[in-house]
Amino acid sequence: MMTQVEIDAALAKRPACNWRSEPLLGSVYGQEEIDAAVNAIKESMDPNVGFGFSASPIPEFEAAFAEYVGTKYATAVNSAGPGIDIVMRALKLEPGDEVIVPPVNFGAAPLAVYGAGGKVVWGEVDPKTYMLDPEDVEKKITPRTRAIFPVHIHGMCAPMDKYIEIAERHPHPKYGPPKVIGDAARACGGSYKGEKIGKLGWATIFSFHTMKNMTTLGEGGMIVTDDPWLNEYAHSVRMYGGGVDAWGTSNVMTKVQAAVGLVQLSKLDSFIDGRRRVAYERNRLLAGVEGIELPYEPLECVHTYYLYAITLKKEWAGEKRDALIKMMNDEYGVGCVVANAPQYLSRKMLADAYGMTTPKSEEYAKRMMCVSLHPTMSSDDNRYICAALITCLKKL
Ligand SMILES: Cc1ncc(COP(=O)(O)O)c(C=O)c1O
Repeated sequence: MMTQVEIDAALAKRPACNWRSEPLLGSVYGQEEIDAAVNAIKESMDPNVGFGFSASPIPEFEAAFAEYVGTKYATAVNSAGPGIDIVMRALKLEPGDEVIVPPVNFGAAPLAVYGAGGKVVWGEVDPKTYMLDPEDVEKKITPRTRAIFPVHIHGMCAPMDKYIEIAERHPHPKYGPPKVIGDAARACGGSYKGEKIGKLGWATIFSFHTMKNMTTLGEGGMIVTDDPWLNEYAHSVRMYGGGVDAWGTSNVMTKVQAAVGLVQLSKLDSFIDGRRRVAYERNRLLAGVEGIELPYEPLECVHTYYLYAITLKKEWAGEKRDALIKMMNDEYGVGCVVANAPQYLSRKMLADAYGMTTPKSEEYAKRMMCVSLHPTMSSDDNRYICAALITCLKKL
């Protein structure tokens, strides 16, 4: 823990620019990405070549990504949201078909179930990891359950093997074990029990949005799977679905993005190392600070620390947590965010359709806040952020 002298010294070195909170933070890229993008554009200048359809290096990027994750197939898409929609539509849900989704989530997963005509069944999250709680999945699974759809929230890994085991014990009468699908938009490069996130489950979807662990010029995504049918379906419906005679629209990634993606993928592990360096240093600086629990990283997980989520003590839930976030931002220029409160609290449409049925998750989310973290953050900036947090906690 930092002494008062260390706190004062750290606060005296205010970072040159404010570290913003997650939705506003960009990723890391350099000259190699610029060269890759320019080369891809130059190659396309010949009118007989153009940008092409699924042109090189899109297939090369897909193959490299599948190899990195350890799956047979990957389909590049224009962002994770449409990738999630594609996987959800592949389930061909019928009215009343259920998908278990954690409410502490980005909106993409529940909205995709909604859009595909299914029924979201909210599953409580674990208070230590904020991941979909397998024990609650066991309680919520029914003969109508078609899928279990956890999110690898904060960049850590959800226990996919546990959901798969539950699914196998509760087969749907017509479709067999519910499919386990991972939303790894925030967790590219993380691992679970020695395997990369994306290896386990029927399908996993990644995001390459500007703020994510790796980016393809600000937008982009990837679907990975071992299922040849899903791979063919995804490749076809990302471009109007003619090949599989299904509804589709245009969700393609460009070759310029794929060229940049190949470079970013080669750097991904170093980005994760950078995030982990900052997180571990922060853990040391904040160890023992009263009233906060630091991010929990089970031994079997390699957390990417896309978000550094702390949990405040019960007395700080809600308004006091919000005041802390405001003080960190307004007085110290440190962005903090709640990622995320249950989706049904901010989307009436979801509350009306599926209810507000996870009171425990609502309580846990009131105590959570994510403090700005970036792989390029210097030790001085990290110390400043910790000193600011300790000071705000004292002031409040
Ligand atoms: C958990 C999660 N899922 C899905 C998405 C959607 O990703 P994209 O912006 O690539 O569509 C996001 C984006 O922030 C996310 O955090």
